[in-house]
Amino acid sequence: MYTILDKKVLSPGVKQVVVSAPLIARKARPGEFVILRVDENGERIPLTIADFDRQAGTVTLIFQEVGATTRRLGRLETGDALSDLAGPLGKPTHIEKMGTVVCVGGGIGIAPIYPIARGMKEAGNRVISILGARTRELLILEQEMKAVSDLVYITTDDGSYGRRGLVTDVLQELLDSGEPIAEVIAIGPVVMMRAVAETTRPYGVKTIVSLNPIMVDGTGMCGGCRVSVGGQTKFACVDGPEFDGHQVDFAGLMARQRMYVEQEKYADNQTYQ
Ligand code: FES
Repeated sequence: MYTILDKKVLSPGVKQVVVSAPLIARKARPGEFVILRVDENGERIPLTIADFDRQAGTVTLIFQEVGATTRRLGRLETGDALSDLAGPLGKPTHIEKMGTVVCVGGGIGIAPIYPIARGMKEAGNRVISILGARTRELLILEQEMKAVSDLVYITTDDGSYGRRGLVTDVLQELLDSGEPIAEVIAIGPVVMMRAVAETTRPYGVKTIVSLNPIMVDGTGMCGGCRVSVGGQTKFACVDGPEFDGHQVDFAGLMARQRMYVEQEKYADNQTYQ
């Protein structure tokens, strides 16, 4: 039983649950994800592991309520249980001491960037984090990110907190400042990850992005999560979810993400939800 031991609302529409899953917690590493079903008739949805506690045997999942399943998940309370939780899946983030690492998190993408920033810091890197949100109230994990970063920049689209603008504005300035950056890791909306990759490309700074295509089985069997990277077809669930941002076909990824918009709307409108 994957019991929810704690639940918090982090910002409007964004919730955090701590789930009892000792076997997954024992093996989880930054960058990996799980696939869950809320109940036995539910669809399978992938969520990146936002945190794990090997001692307590728990994994922390943070999700935005964007459709039928995430809304159903959001209605579960402490003491309720998930039908199933498979993982950890995917390849973990490559973490080693390399110098200065810039972690860019946009919106809900701050959740999966957190364990990566922590891992990079623990490996002895200087970690600069750039966090972006549409508004102040949508910014999550600010204190957690500050605790594992040497420097944190915050941007909001409306200027209600931090600096008004985009994460790429700050990244551009860092690149121009001559700060020797070994690697940039960006997780957030596809448009943001594409913009980050385009910002670093002229500087030749290695840029890793974590892709979130539609997934079904999560084990490389269905092909639902295929993405084009460097002209080759890759499966995000087993080859990723992290890839070289300079090689990703972002336009193709966005088109595939919109494939089931009608079905998703239909599911969201069903009364049994
Ligand atoms: Fe089926 Fe990746 S989710 S191959």
